[in-house]
Amino acid sequence: MIPVNEPLIGEKEIAYVNECLRTGWISSAGRFIEAFEQKWADYCGMKYGIAMSNGTTALQAAIACLDLQPGDKIIMPTFTIISCAQAIVYNGGIPILVDSDPRTWCMDVKQVREKVKMEMSKSDGKIKAIMPVHIYGHPVDMDPLLALAEEYDLNIIEDAAEVHGAEYLTGRNTAHPQWKKCGGIGHISVFSFYANKLITTGEGGMVLTNDPDYAEKARSLRNLCFRPEQRFLHTKLGHNFRLTNLQAAIGLGQLERMDEIIAKKRWIGKAYTERLQSISALQLPVEETWARQVYWMYGIVLDQRTGFDAVRFAQKLKELGVDTRPFFLGMHEQPVFRDMGLFQNEKYPVSERIARQGLYLPSGLTLTETQIDEVCESVKAVLDEIQ
Ligand SMILES: Cc1ncc(COP(=O)(O)O)c(C=O)c1O
Repeated sequence: MIPVNEPLIGEKEIAYVNECLRTGWISSAGRFIEAFEQKWADYCGMKYGIAMSNGTTALQAAIACLDLQPGDKIIMPTFTIISCAQAIVYNGGIPILVDSDPRTWCMDVKQVREKVKMEMSKSDGKIKAIMPVHIYGHPVDMDPLLALAEEYDLNIIEDAAEVHGAEYLTGRNTAHPQWKKCGGIGHISVFSFYANKLITTGEGGMVLTNDPDYAEKARSLRNLCFRPEQRFLHTKLGHNFRLTNLQAAIGLGQLERMDEIIAKKRWIGKAYTERLQSISALQLPVEETWARQVYWMYGIVLDQRTGFDAVRFAQKLKELGVDTRPFFLGMHEQPVFRDMGLFQNEKYPVSERIARQGLYLPSGLTLTETQIDEVCESVKAVLDEIQ
């Protein structure tokens, strides 16, 4: 079976982890934590990095920085992982959804403007932030969101869990366009370092920001809100969201190979596109002119006219030895949120279609050209059989 993902662990990571083991720095303090935080923040062009136990807890801490009041709302895409919406709900906020752009599958930024305008025209207009989520390696079109943030004094909480190293061309219609790293654009950004990510620490995450107050809050929340003046006196409740030095050691080793990792991912993306682009029944990932995407996962969307959905397609591919994963199911279709009275009767047709018709192909860093050939042959064989 060709797996969807296999992490690639190098000698550097092994040497760094061995150093932790030999020196006894195996918990949440140590030189690798600090180096990983600073180097990742530098890489993304942000000032402060606060390592977290995973991307979900990083989102939880990022939203907590905003001190939401009852009724405060945050605009986010319906098409994403539940971690995004639950971070808002756990912090007492209300998620307001928008549909996906049909090309990039990221949030439709025109709909964000409409929703912000609509919500802010109400007497109790309480939009506090926008949460763009870069999907499967492709950046969200950030400039329109930054303009909205400026106009309405909103925070941008950038979920960059799927786009390590991807870049966005900001100011493309100005005299000074500039490429920026995803995760280095919003007020606060969040990464995951789960085993299938471009950089992994096994489990892990990080909050990045340029704001010293947000950085301080996130650091405190991560560590039970201990106070520097008197350790066991608490004025706030926090969490244990700490990453270990052992995990950071793996991350640092990976980060030192970042250019190689991105080059391999982009090679995989291009190799798939070359082999699959003539198939009219498939929609493939795009790369907009203002984006340098990293093909975190190579997604494909099956035309509904095939009469086949992603579940049946995945089953057929599995029979041929190719493992895949389905696309996200939108937040508005989640029973847990419907049961809370959220998103009643809301419809987001792009998200609903791609959730049913989309899956991603093996995309891990260990993938070989022969395996890509095999995957593409299998995709073609299944399509020949069903059409
Ligand atoms: C967009 C996005 N945000 C957040 C997360 C959560 O990260 P983690 O699995 O590290 O909790 C993921 C996980 O894949 C994700 O894809």
